[in-house]
Amino acid sequence: MKKAVQKIYQEVAPTYELVNHILTWGFDIRWRKRAVKTTSAMRGGLWMDVCSGTGELAQALARSRDDVQVLALDFSLPMLERAREKKGLEQGLFSLGDVTRLPFADNTFDLITISFATRNLNPNPDYLSACLREFCRVLKPGGIFLNLETSQPQPPWLRRLFHLYIRTVVKPVGYLFSGSKAGYKYLSHTIPRFYASGEFTSFLREAGFDQVRATPLLLSIAAIHLAVKSE
Ligand SMILES: C[S@@+](CC[C@H](N)C(=O)[O-])C[C@H]1O[C@@H](n2cnc3c(N)ncnc32)[C@H](O)[C@@H]1O
Repeated sequence: MKKAVQKIYQEVAPTYELVNHILTWGFDIRWRKRAVKTTSAMRGGLWMDVCSGTGELAQALARSRDDVQVLALDFSLPMLERAREKKGLEQGLFSLGDVTRLPFADNTFDLITISFATRNLNPNPDYLSACLREFCRVLKPGGIFLNLETSQPQPPWLRRLFHLYIRTVVKPVGYLFSGSKAGYKYLSHTIPRFYASGEFTSFLREAGFDQVRATPLLLSIAAIHLAVKSE
């Protein structure tokens, strides 16, 4: 599984950002900005963006404040190499690592972020829970986990329309621009089976987080979840 996902990101890395912007009509950019805005009142210190990919969120976080050090972690070298070229991440820290076994001590980070990657950590519910527990472990008490991810729109008709778009547009358009059939087949498979906001909130609580707060984005096509590790 890990090797297959790494192969996909190796294939799509050169065109990853462009295809994302096209498929989401640019909303991914707005939603990352929104995620960064929610961090403005949080304490600074050591922040980590996991599954950072080409580093768009890590870059925006690093540029948003002077009192934070941002570490970008991913298990795909071709994706992370693109992150390293980003302006504003010159002083950034990078780690080639797997979120299932984070190479950090307990209680290390003040904030952990993840964007559009939690779906990748959901081959099954146990795997997802283990990853969330791992994030909780390396957060300091009082530290915050921020999750930006696609969600499930509420009215059933909109959900069906959303899934139809994913099935009929994502695969061919992704393939057209990236040349990767497997990559966008995988993507179109992960979105419809991800959780609605309330279900994901339950995962966070079970993983040991408190004070979970969800913000729906664009009729719940996506959502930001904030969750606190108890003191
Ligand atoms: C869809 S991309 C998201 C990239 C970026 N966060 C964004 O907002 O565009 C998913 C990323 O998660 C990484 N990834 C998937 N599973 C991982 C794991 N177990 N450990 C570390 N990185 C992982 C992939 O290599 C890929 O770069």
